[in-house]
This record gives sequence, structure tokens and C-alpha cells, in this order.
Amino acid sequence: MIIHVFNSQQELNQAGAGIITALIQTKPDAVLGLATGGTPVGIYEELVKNYNAARVSFRHAKSFNLDEYVGLPDGHSESYRTYMNHHLFDHVDIQMEETHVPNGNADDVDEECEEYDAMMADAGQVDLQILGIGHNGHIGFNEPGRELTAGTHRVELKAETREANARYFPSIDEVPTHAITMGIASIMKAKQIILIVRGADKAEIVERALFGPITTDCPASLLQAHPNLVVLLDNEAGSGLIEQ
Ligand code: PGA
Repeated sequence: MIIHVFNSQQELNQAGAGIITALIQTKPDAVLGLATGGTPVGIYEELVKNYNAARVSFRHAKSFNLDEYVGLPDGHSESYRTYMNHHLFDHVDIQMEETHVPNGNADDVDEECEEYDAMMADAGQVDLQILGIGHNGHIGFNEPGRELTAGTHRVELKAETREANARYFPSIDEVPTHAITMGIASIMKAKQIILIVRGADKAEIVERALFGPITTDCPASLLQAHPNLVVLLDNEAGSGLIEQ
């Protein structure tokens, strides 16, 4: 595991975008695992800048997103497909048909999950997976519990996850109760994982995830077993580590 702690959001964003840019420069047909939420927004902004400066082209790249809410109407402002189009896909030259976000409106969600895993298997190994972390240690929407699931699956969101995401919705009642998420094995299969965390409110979970026991009660702790994990933290999220 390599941990970088940055003094500014800009340095963190440039470092994250730099890793993705360097990968695509050396492997134009890279398979990217992408994340949503507040954490990666600045990294996508930097990636768009790199694209506009002709430092990177996504023309041959493919992407698979970690997760999607179940039941939001197509085009809903808070769906993760809308987020990805808005923050990245609409601004770069990736082929839209090579971008994949689980379909949270599928008639048969289980079938959608199986198809998503099959598409990922066809695309080959994810070269680089971007991850954030929830306050409860979730990665994607793999919530803490007695067991974790290997492949893409439907999940019931924990109350704390719905509360954390309520900031994007008019009220908590409108936050979906379920989501589709890649499973832990899908995430751990990636060649490289970039875990990005910002803010003092995540300092404790960062410490637990990276240095606490490996346990399903903190899904992110499994990342300790990944052979190529790079952690990008702002100094607030990294404050617990610096004090050690
Ligand atoms: P956030 O979410 O980036 O909005 O903090 C991270 C997560 O829940 O995985």
C-alpha cells in the first residue's frame, strides 16, 4: 500500500487525474472502474482539463461504474449515470457505448447484475479502480455486515448511507432504499485500486480501514489485502495516520 497525503485539494485532484492520465497514455484501451459521490468530482474536473489540453484521449477506453441507485427514473438528476455524463463523459471523447453504469431501472435486477458481471468479464480485468469510502467503511455500496457478496448484486442501503446521501435530495424520503453495486470480488480483481478520501469526518474510518482488523464490518479493510493499492488523502482525512 502506498499512501499519499496532500496539503490541498488541488494537489490531490491533480495527482489522481495524473495517475489515470498516465495509465491511458500508456494503455489507450484501458478499462477504468469509476466511482461517483462528492469525492471524485475534482479528479474528473482535472481529467477534463487534461483532455482539453490534448494530454489524454479516452477514445479507446472503457469504463464500468461501481454502482447505481435502484428505481430513479431515467435522466434523474441524482442518478449515477447522470452524474457520470455531467462530470466526465459529456466532456471527453470516450465512446458512450463503452461507458457502463448498472441499470437501476431494469425489470429484472438480478438479471441486470449477471449481465453487468458478464460485460465486465468480456472487457477483461479492470486496470484501475477509483474508490471512495463511506463513513461506515462501505466501498461501492458494499455495506458492513456479517457477509460480503462477490459479484454485482442488489443491496439495501444502510440508514447512515441514505442519511449521508440525503444532501443531494430534497428530503431523505426521496433517497432510494436500494442500489446495485459491484461486489467485493469485482473490486478486488482490479489491477490497481486508487482509494481517495477527503475530510476530517473520514479520518477515523481511514485509520480503521487501512490499519484495523480485516473484517466484513468494515468492507474497505479488505483493501489491505490488495497488491496494488494507492491511497490519496487530504491532510484532514490523513490526520489520524500522521498522529500515529
Ligand atoms: P462521498 O461518498 O464521496 O460522497 O463522500 C463516498 C462513498 O460513500 O463511497
